[in-house]
Amino acid sequence: MKKLYIETYGCQMNVNDSEVVFSILERAGYGRCTSIDEADVIMANTCSVRDNAEQRIWARIDAFNVHRSRRPGVLVGILGCMAERLKDELLDSGKVDIVAGPDSYRTLPSLLEAASLGTPQINVELSREETYGDIRPVRTDKNGVSAFISIMRGCNNVCSYCVVPYTRGAERSRDARTIVREACDCFAAGYREVTLLGQNVDSYRWKDVGFAELLDMVAAVSPLLRVRFATSNPQDISDDVVRTIAAHPNICRHIHLPVQSGSNRILEKMRRRYTREWYLDRVRFIRDLLPDCGLTTDVIAGFCSETLVDHKDTLDLFEEVGFDSAFMFCYSERPGTLAARKYPDDVPAAEKTRRLEEIIALQGRKSLESYRRDIGKSFEVLVEGPSKRNPAQLCGRNSANKMCVWTDSSHKAGDYVTVRVEDCTSATLLCSLE
Ligand code: SAH
Ligand code: SF4
Ligand code: F3S
Repeated sequence: MKKLYIETYGCQMNVNDSEVVFSILERAGYGRCTSIDEADVIMANTCSVRDNAEQRIWARIDAFNVHRSRRPGVLVGILGCMAERLKDELLDSGKVDIVAGPDSYRTLPSLLEAASLGTPQINVELSREETYGDIRPVRTDKNGVSAFISIMRGCNNVCSYCVVPYTRGAERSRDARTIVREACDCFAAGYREVTLLGQNVDSYRWKDVGFAELLDMVAAVSPLLRVRFATSNPQDISDDVVRTIAAHPNICRHIHLPVQSGSNRILEKMRRRYTREWYLDRVRFIRDLLPDCGLTTDVIAGFCSETLVDHKDTLDLFEEVGFDSAFMFCYSERPGTLAARKYPDDVPAAEKTRRLEEIIALQGRKSLESYRRDIGKSFEVLVEGPSKRNPAQLCGRNSANKMCVWTDSSHKAGDYVTVRVEDCTSATLLCSLE
């Protein structure tokens, strides 16, 4: 049996795609291996969302080529968004044997066979139908507790800064029956949490099933199976979805709601189809129905033409909402996007970094406030395994997605336990077993 090694970069959807690739190639006689030194095929499943993500992968390709030149017969494959975006440029580098875009994974067995005869292979065709709905992913998570399930692929929004619609193609939803079947499979295999994945989960639609109905169906698999999801677009998150969360104790109280900017002028240039007021109204609605709901976000600092006034709007919004945590980025121009074609990338790099650091500092304070408010409270958490820092402790998240750690020798991954928060940092609740 040949051995396949995959390094995965980018978002959770890529993690799940790599699991699909393992499954497809397992049937073609490739076993999964976790050591690059033993691999016959070395792959990277890549991300193009920011320039630094791509730079990191070019460096990995050079590292892969050390193996490729030392051990004749070793093949190097580039999968995912960067394969889709750079296409021939990757092939022409002479450093890779296979370039395969996100919708071409079913052809990997034949691409590998052809490449092994010495001619590099490429397939970057995008599809309007492919969802890999019938494929049972080979789970690669370490704990056997929490699994990703892709419910849709692609994206039909055209946020002006974003490369994803170009690398992932048009939006399509997966057959709801295969999603529920996969959730059942996970539960039967011992998993206790599934995260439903899509770039814009609220636009999920398969026949009569919208996202709220899908949540209902997956939540019904077992009361012991937690359900999470990402990502919600502020424009599209519906009242029904929030009500469905409220109706099921096993749908986690956490919504990742990327705001991107607090300035209406910038939001419009970003082609986000909501305003700051709409966003704040959604937050109010969520908190009215789900008072304990964790709220997290993404934000971009220094988008084209952003002034200090726009930046202050973002800071004010962060102050007002008080997110539990956030992913924060400097704007990175992506070739071919609307913003790259239409707007100069005119905020100097040093100024982008300065604004980003200001947001990070503010958010650090807000996170700490949020975690401190939990001191004295009790939460049910799902045990994920030993804590990274201290093997005598276990870790797991509460419903709101906050990481908890506590000393425990009597439970194991997959158990539900109740813990009491004694202290915290700005990213972890330090607890004791109740
Ligand atoms: N579909 C999700 C986002 C997917 S990309 C949504 O609409 O919210 C993940 C995050 O990367 C985005 O939320 C955004 O904050 C960031 N991002 C995307 N393109 C970027 C770019 N060109 N520069 C910097 N950050 C970017
Ligand atoms: Fe990109 Fe916007 Fe689609 Fe998210 S919704 S993936 S930011 S285009
Ligand atoms: Fe990156 Fe592609 Fe995901 S660009 S963020 S891996 S959809």
